[in-house]
Amino acid sequence: MSDSLPDQTAVDAHVASFERELAAAASARDAQSLRDRYLGRKNSIVASWMQQIGSAPPDQKKSIGRYANELKQAIEARWKQYEETSRDAAPAGGVDVTLPGRQPILGHRHPLTVVRDRMEEIFTRMGFTIVEGPEVEDEWHCFDALNMPAEHPARDMQDTLYLATPMPPFQAGDAMRTMLRTHTSSMQIRYMQTHEPPVRIVVPGKVYRKDDLDLTHTPNFTQMEGLVVGEGVSLADLKGTLLAWAREMFGERSRVRLRPSFFPYTEPSAEVDISCWSCDGAGCSMCKQSGWIEILGCGMVHPAVFEAVGYDPDKVSGFAFGMGMERVAMLKYGVDDIRLFYENDLRFLEQFPL
Ligand code: DAH
Repeated sequence: MSDSLPDQTAVDAHVASFERELAAAASARDAQSLRDRYLGRKNSIVASWMQQIGSAPPDQKKSIGRYANELKQAIEARWKQYEETSRDAAPAGGVDVTLPGRQPILGHRHPLTVVRDRMEEIFTRMGFTIVEGPEVEDEWHCFDALNMPAEHPARDMQDTLYLATPMPPFQAGDAMRTMLRTHTSSMQIRYMQTHEPPVRIVVPGKVYRKDDLDLTHTPNFTQMEGLVVGEGVSLADLKGTLLAWAREMFGERSRVRLRPSFFPYTEPSAEVDISCWSCDGAGCSMCKQSGWIEILGCGMVHPAVFEAVGYDPDKVSGFAFGMGMERVAMLKYGVDDIRLFYENDLRFLEQFPL
């Protein structure tokens, strides 16, 4: 274009393409070199027009000069505008230290983490050690050693996902089918295999079952297991421990009751109910008018379990309990759909204590 003589059409075309290229500039450096290409002292479009004034025939000098100036001013004006808007967007002069600080967005504990932390705090204060174990288990730790041999009907209630690759055995005799653990009770076995009594542990962790998703079930949920073993550990110790936990977790006025139940790894076994903290036992919609809320399973460790890990059932006794942490969280916070814990909707998650 610089070959033909400057005229209004050429001015307009250059201004339009300058605007277009400036809008597309990816960085301040790109914009600067664009500006230099149009306005630079040497070899720029404006500079070449200025040069043409000198070599032009006298009758054209004036109009070339006019168009060259017009182009220069138009480009300078666009450039100034660009500089002003980009200065507003990112202050070139650095940071204004007098402005109030910007609060970083703080993350938030998940309600299940809140419950887990609280439970760990309560049990730690009662002298329990927190231990964790593998989520990939073998059948022996998950079932056999807990007095649930193959074909035991109790296994049906905890169907799970079996893995194609066998796990290298942890201990001699472990090399059985590999699976995702259905409960944290398998850690009772692992812990007793590697520790001498006395034992006082809680085991938080994920467990897996082939359950369909509904209001109260997910194929992956969280449990906390408890195990206490020593000389002379009794059912009264079990009840006292659970009562102390319930009062910390659900309020001072909580009472607990044990109803006879069955688990292969405890004898006797019980389901534990807590007095409803919403109506204090009078009966309300929360406890379905019964005054009690079922919360966990427990019992005295079965002698066969001690035998499986090499403890002498004539010397030691113990109790165990296991509960679903989603259930505790649902009851504590009045959540009616377990799926809410896993949908990652911040409007739900942010309603819980930090
Ligand atoms: N393992 C049981 C379950 O997943 C819960 C349980 C019941 C654990 C009784 C225990 C127990 O330690 O003694 O449903």
